[in-house]
Parts: sequence; C-alpha cells; structure tokens
Amino acid sequence: MLVTTKEMFEKSMKEGFAVGAFNVNNMEIIQAIVDAAAEEKSPVILQASSSAIKYARINYLMKMIEAATEEHPDIPIAIHLDHGPDFETCKMCVDAGFTSVMYDGSKYDFEENVRVTKQVVDYAHSKGVVVEAELGKLAGIEDDVNVSDADAKYTDPAQAEEFVKRTGCDSLAIAIGTSHGAYKFKGEAKLRFDILKQIKERIPETPIVLHGASTVIPELVEQCNKYGADIPGAKGVPDEMLHTASISGVSKINVDTDLRLAMTAEIRRVFAEEPSAFDPRKYLKPARELIKQTVQHKIRDVFGSSNKA
Ligand code: G3H
Ligand code: 13P
Ligand code: ZN
Repeated sequence: MLVTTKEMFEKSMKEGFAVGAFNVNNMEIIQAIVDAAAEEKSPVILQASSSAIKYARINYLMKMIEAATEEHPDIPIAIHLDHGPDFETCKMCVDAGFTSVMYDGSKYDFEENVRVTKQVVDYAHSKGVVVEAELGKLAGIEDDVNVSDADAKYTDPAQAEEFVKRTGCDSLAIAIGTSHGAYKFKGEAKLRFDILKQIKERIPETPIVLHGASTVIPELVEQCNKYGADIPGAKGVPDEMLHTASISGVSKINVDTDLRLAMTAEIRRVFAEEPSAFDPRKYLKPARELIKQTVQHKIRDVFGSSNKA
C-alpha cells in the first residue's frame, strides 16, 4: 500500500530500526527493491532524484510504483523525491502523487535554506505530503579540507533545533561524515555518532535521515573490477556503523551506490562469461536478482526492518 513516511518513522523511532530508502531509475530496480521488502515483510521507501525523473519520466515512474503497490498491498511503500533542488520540482512531485518530498537547501546559507524549506513544507502539507529537509553539508573525499573546515560541514545540533522549529519539516537529513558515491573515506571510516546523539537530544521527535549511506560492498566492487571495471580504492560505510545508526535514532538510510554496483557487477559478469548473449533479459534478470539480494541483506541484517510492515 502507498503511504507517507510519517507512519513508518513513528514506528521506527518507537521500535529502534531504520527504513531503507532506495533510489529507483527503472523497472528492474523497482521490482528488485519491492520484492525484497515483500519477502522481508518490511516497509520501504522508493526514492527518485530529479535526474532519475528526467531519465525514467515521471508518468512511467508513478505507474510502475502503482503496479508495485497493487502487487504488495500489505507492504507500506512510500514514494519520495530525493534531493529536490527547488520549490518547483517539489511541487511537481507533490502534484504527481509522491507521498514525500525532499527539499535540499544545504547548498544555501541557513536563512535561505529555512525560507525555501518552509515554502515547500507549506505547499506539501496542504496536500497531505511530508517533507524531508537537509542541514549541514555531506563531505566528499575530493573535498580536501582541513579539520576545522570539515567540522564546519557537520550539522550543528543547536541550528538543527532552530531549523526544525522554523520550517516545520517532518524529517531532517544530517551530515555526520557520510558522503555520496563510491569514495567516502580515504582512511578509516568514521562517523560522528556524538553529533547524532546531541541532535537526537535536541529534536527527539524528528526522524533523522542518513544520506550517502552505501556500504560500497567490497564483493560487488571486486566483481565489477574482475570483469573489466575500473573502480579502485572504493570505500563506504561499514554495515556495523549503519546498524549502530539504525538503533541510535536514524529512521531513514539512503542507498543508491550499492544498487548501481550490484547491477553493474552482474551485467558485466554475463557480458564476460557469455559474449554471445544479446537478449537484454539474459543480463537484466540476474542483475535484478543481485539488487534484490543486496536490498534484502540491508533490510534484514543491517537496518532491522524485517517484519515491521
Ligand atoms: O544522492 C544522489 C543519488 O545517488 C541520486 O543520484 O542524481 O545521479 O540520480 P542521481
Ligand atoms: P550513496 O551514494 O551512498 O548510495 O547515497 C545515496 C543517497 O544519499 C541518495 O540520496
Ligand atoms: Zn543523498
């Protein structure tokens, strides 16, 4: 069934687990995620970025998600806009039937972020849609910053409290050391759980979101590289840290990179092992299966949302 994230997060905060939010771009990815969630009897969030919407086209996305909810009436499924860049994109998704939208104003200064987030919240709430906002900047390994600059990027707990009060946003994405993509850490993986704790103390009722939370699963990277990819030195957030986040007040964990790796690893394997194959189903079917296994592992072994539907 199609739901907002509100009910999911109320349960996740009460029972101490996280809901996986997986990026979708095409039919195989949607099917893999939803089939995994259904097998695990888990709530799940399907999220589409504005570039995913441009790629797949919003009507196709909505119809495929409608099909998924019809196939799985017992599984709570939310459809969420990931990193909405402006008010207009958020409005388009609200009007198209998304149950949740993110406005990402983290590129702006605090006041501008508050202003546009509030505008999105007012519109979305008038239509029964919930809003995720972001405060703080996700670090990138390419950002060669010194320690004090790096500190400035983390979400400030006092600002988070003021931001949520002034905007009325329903959930908040925070920066505690994660980053998007396959290269998250140069050395040891490190997340600032102390900052998460301070944020939870100040806004205990606000669901917290972790972006850039792929594990960059080493086996998937190895399989890609074995069959011709060039992805050296990739590194993500270890499962143990994500599990700690799940039981420490993080309600939504975003995953895109691991699904990209799973799909690429299987397609590359088939191309290498069966060079005569050219029926797309020959490689998309195993790709879909490996995405499903990847999602199932996260839901069951890391986020703890199995049997929480
Ligand atoms: O956080 C970004 C997501 O991984 C989506 O990426 O904009 O390339 O679809 P994308
Ligand atoms: P990853 O690149 O770590 O998968 O993060 C995805 C994400 O945050 C989508 O918003
Ligand atoms: Zn993100």
